[in-house]
Amino acid sequence: MAGQVDVIIGAQWGDEGKGRVVDALAGRMDVIVRYQGGANAGHTVIVGDEKHVFHLLPSGMLYSGKLCVIGNGVVVDPDQLLKELKELQEQGKDRACLVVSGAAHVVMPYHKVLDGLDEKFRGKDRQIGTTKRGIGPCYVDKYNRVGIRIEDLLDADVLREKLSFNLEIKNLVLSRVYDESPLAFDEIYEKALAWGRALAPYVDDASLVVDQALQEGKSILLEGAQGTLLDADHGTYPFVTSSHPTASGGCLGAGIGPTRIDRVIGIVKAYCTRVGDGPFPTEDHGEKGAYLRDKGGEFGATTGRPRRCGWLDMVALRYAVRVNGITAIALTKLDVLDGLDEIKICTAYEIDGKKQENFTGNSTVLSRVRPLYESLPGWSQRIDGCRSFEALPEAARNYVTYIEKATGVPVALIGVGPKREQTILRGL
Ligand code: IMP
Repeated sequence: MAGQVDVIIGAQWGDEGKGRVVDALAGRMDVIVRYQGGANAGHTVIVGDEKHVFHLLPSGMLYSGKLCVIGNGVVVDPDQLLKELKELQEQGKDRACLVVSGAAHVVMPYHKVLDGLDEKFRGKDRQIGTTKRGIGPCYVDKYNRVGIRIEDLLDADVLREKLSFNLEIKNLVLSRVYDESPLAFDEIYEKALAWGRALAPYVDDASLVVDQALQEGKSILLEGAQGTLLDADHGTYPFVTSSHPTASGGCLGAGIGPTRIDRVIGIVKAYCTRVGDGPFPTEDHGEKGAYLRDKGGEFGATTGRPRRCGWLDMVALRYAVRVNGITAIALTKLDVLDGLDEIKICTAYEIDGKKQENFTGNSTVLSRVRPLYESLPGWSQRIDGCRSFEALPEAARNYVTYIEKATGVPVALIGVGPKREQTILRGL
């Protein structure tokens, strides 16, 4: 593993089980870096009987001796970050070392307020179904070049100047566009200074820290959040998040060059889910969708919203392989399919009477496609106790092999339950 750099990405609409795969690999890696998104993510790691949900902290935080990094591409809600750190400290589990990039942007209180108001303004037909964590408005400020970065929290004068400028505009929008009360400067300023004091010990040049680790031959895991189909460029626009969950986002958001990446590991759930609005060709509105939701516990780790559920979509998965350059698949939640007599797989779409084998991020078109399915036999036995590929029932092995053939990518990890040990490793 010396000097190895892996990127972990979600190959669907997020919630593929990235946390548990990162956790499974983190033991062998030295540095774990979150590179985009923010507290809209919810990465669940289960150790023994304990469940940890990380929204901002890298999922490697439970391992002692690891270096965990929040990269420049992440938008940081300091209240959430400090809460997660405090929880770990109180439980005596703050075993890893944390570095937060000074260049990461700060989710300010007005970003969260605006996230909710913007959604309301878009109305039922246009709403995105955001997590209301202020993610979109924070990235808007970043790209509008008015954002406040973590490093700004450490300089009272810079912070005062940037915050007063931002608040002037935000308060105009709040009062004149949304007819809401303006926000008070002093309260936010004091809060932001306190964030700066609390975060100061962790702030550093994250890109440099990662590079130094690489120079020392250490291995790096770039932990993506959300999923390919939520990418602002490659996802089902406009029903996307505001950052880049794809593998190239890993380079950008961690400050690491593309030539350094060795492997791109695509996390694929054995079926599909989506939370929030937007097209989902293989969604099952019937009893099979409800079965997957109940059995898979498909309720948002961040918002608690029920997730929409459906069948594996090979058109979308081949696309994810292409835009990310996936070199290995980690297939999660295979056990959720136990007990189904048949398992459907979407192999192509039909649009206006024509067969379509390539995915499109055009939401208007995608919402009109009809999925074409193939059916594979299911299996009746429970697989949560299987610890090798050979121990799986033949039908489950066939499902895995089908995915490998259809994508041309090996399935190198199979999750058969939520616990750390319920993992079949096949060369990862
Ligand atoms: P935002 O990222 O909160 O702006 O939400 C934009 C879209 O991305 C919405 O459809 C959310 O439901 C979805 N989304 C954001 N984060 C996650 C995630 O971690 N898992 C799944 N969906 C997410």
